[in-house]
Amino acid sequence: MPPLLADFIHSRVCKPICAKSLTLPMGKIVAITNFKGGVGKTATALNLGAALSDAGKKVLLIDNDPQGNLTAALGYTPAEQKRTLANLLLAAIDYPEDLEIHLERGILHTGSGLYLIPANRRLADAAARLQVMQISQYNAVGDADRVCEKVMDSIMPFLRDAYDYIIIDCGLKHELLTVNALAASDYCIIPVQSHFLASEGVPDVLDLVRSVKEKFNPRLEVAGILLTMYQTRPQLCRSVRESVVDIYGGSYHVFERPIEYSIKVAECPAAGQSIFEYAPKNAAAESYRSLAREVLRLG
Ligand SMILES: Nc1ncnc2c1ncn2[C@@H]1O[C@H](COP(=O)(O)OP(=O)(O)OP(=O)(O)O)[C@@H](O)[C@H]1O
Ligand SMILES: [Mg+2]
Repeated sequence: MPPLLADFIHSRVCKPICAKSLTLPMGKIVAITNFKGGVGKTATALNLGAALSDAGKKVLLIDNDPQGNLTAALGYTPAEQKRTLANLLLAAIDYPEDLEIHLERGILHTGSGLYLIPANRRLADAAARLQVMQISQYNAVGDADRVCEKVMDSIMPFLRDAYDYIIIDCGLKHELLTVNALAASDYCIIPVQSHFLASEGVPDVLDLVRSVKEKFNPRLEVAGILLTMYQTRPQLCRSVRESVVDIYGGSYHVFERPIEYSIKVAECPAAGQSIFEYAPKNAAAESYRSLAREVLRLG
């Protein structure tokens, strides 16, 4: 699938001041995050995005991981991407007046009908820049709009009005990138692998969500915990599900239907396709549709 630069420049994208002044934001922003690796964050971002798109929604995916796995899963070579999330974050810091131009050039319209802000290793440089900002913040007189934790949030007024859903795939290593995603989001989804000890990382994510909500983003809510790579036969998966519901179900939503383990989900990224293109009849496709229905109900 050849990379296509988005010809899409929605007229509303060019009205950040209007968008900023709206009290009720239009598009919903959902961060997919967990500090554990390999739990299905990227697969969730891709396939939830595709399910929402199939439901008629305009969806922007943001690859917020220097590994660029979401970018690759949509058929692009991360290292070849010249315009990435890193450019946008750096423009938001250094040349906010040029941000619109960067956005117009930097959003890919993928063959799957999804829009994508890609990422590659340069995002690690942008994360380092955020860290430098954080250190200098200790000495600076506070300017609430310029804090290193809210750089991504400062891009959103340019995007919210043009998309129904903006889904941010978070990585593992750079906590400030995840904090930025959470500070910009309405909801977060926490994928948890249906495996022994896989839910260990959840308290850390919940602590971070609480802290970001308190300091930077009062509208942030946990949409739910999503069981992934679920196999119906091993008793282990069922007991992990029961224990996640036992431990967290009282305070947080656990999505109704776990995402089944299926080799087709693992094969999708190599084909540059979502599960709906690659194996639409697969059980996991139905699980992602069920997840999308629950996300749509969030409003
Ligand atoms: N439901 C599933 N069934 C089978 N394989 C899956 C499923 N979901 C994800 N995978 C595979 O498991 C691996 C990890 O998934 P994924 O990359 O989505 O996790 P991640 O949490 O984003 O990882 P990272 O922490 O590296 O960003 C990938 O090879 C992916 O294709
Ligand atoms: Mg990932």
